[in-house]
Amino acid sequence: MRIDILTLFPESFAPFKESIISRAQKAGTIEINLINIRDFSCDKHKRCDDTPFGGGAGMLMSVQPVFDALKSVLTKNSKVIFPSPAGKVYNHQIAHQLAQNEHLIFVCGHYEGIDQRLIEIFDMEEISIGDYVLTGGEIPAMVIIDSLLRFVPGVLKEGSLTEESFSNGLLEYPQYTRPQSFEGLDVPAVLVSGNHAEIAKWRKQESIKKTKKNRPDLLEGGKSEN
Ligand SMILES: C[S@@+](CC[C@H](N)C(=O)[O-])C[C@H]1O[C@@H](n2cnc3c(N)ncnc32)[C@H](O)[C@@H]1O
Repeated sequence: MRIDILTLFPESFAPFKESIISRAQKAGTIEINLINIRDFSCDKHKRCDDTPFGGGAGMLMSVQPVFDALKSVLTKNSKVIFPSPAGKVYNHQIAHQLAQNEHLIFVCGHYEGIDQRLIEIFDMEEISIGDYVLTGGEIPAMVIIDSLLRFVPGVLKEGSLTEESFSNGLLEYPQYTRPQSFEGLDVPAVLVSGNHAEIAKWRKQESIKKTKKNRPDLLEGGKSEN
């Protein structure tokens, strides 16, 4: 999979130089390119903001540099994502669907966002990472990219996704590691029993218990598809 990220702040993506995402890039499983929108500005001072028609407190990103930056990476197989608080709310299923694309382009908004015509011309999918407003689209793009890449074959170890939260419509069961006794609390006896059928049964029950407590909406909404 190839991902192009259009941003005014390429340095924000330093986390992609770490851990699993970095290894997947080095292995050639995924390709991530950072494109600085400012490099495309035809303004003599490289300005990338402009006033909105109709007035208002904030600025908008200038149309020309975003348009030209997008044209420079667009192919016939590209899907363009615009992270936006006005988009549909992101979740596990959307992450799984996005991971099926061969080329994704993310346009990171800043100021009050981008001109509506850009959204229409490039048929952008607007995706929100939650009902709150951040200062820019860089963190939302990282959240979306990090989570969708987990579904790209070869990025994670085989089997890593099967029992994770949301994979079967439930939250994951509680996990424990050494020491077996810590601060007066013992690991549940079944987990050290060696009885794999009983362990699986316990984990299922604990998953349901945790989901009922923290996310009853998941149980009401039925099972996830993935
Ligand atoms: C200050 S916000 C603009 C908010 C916009 N004026 C509105 O009210 O919908 C600047 C940029 O941050 C990004 N952003 C902020 N909150 C977001 C969220 N919850 N989900 C996805 N992107 C978000 C978007 O790219 C947005 O264009």
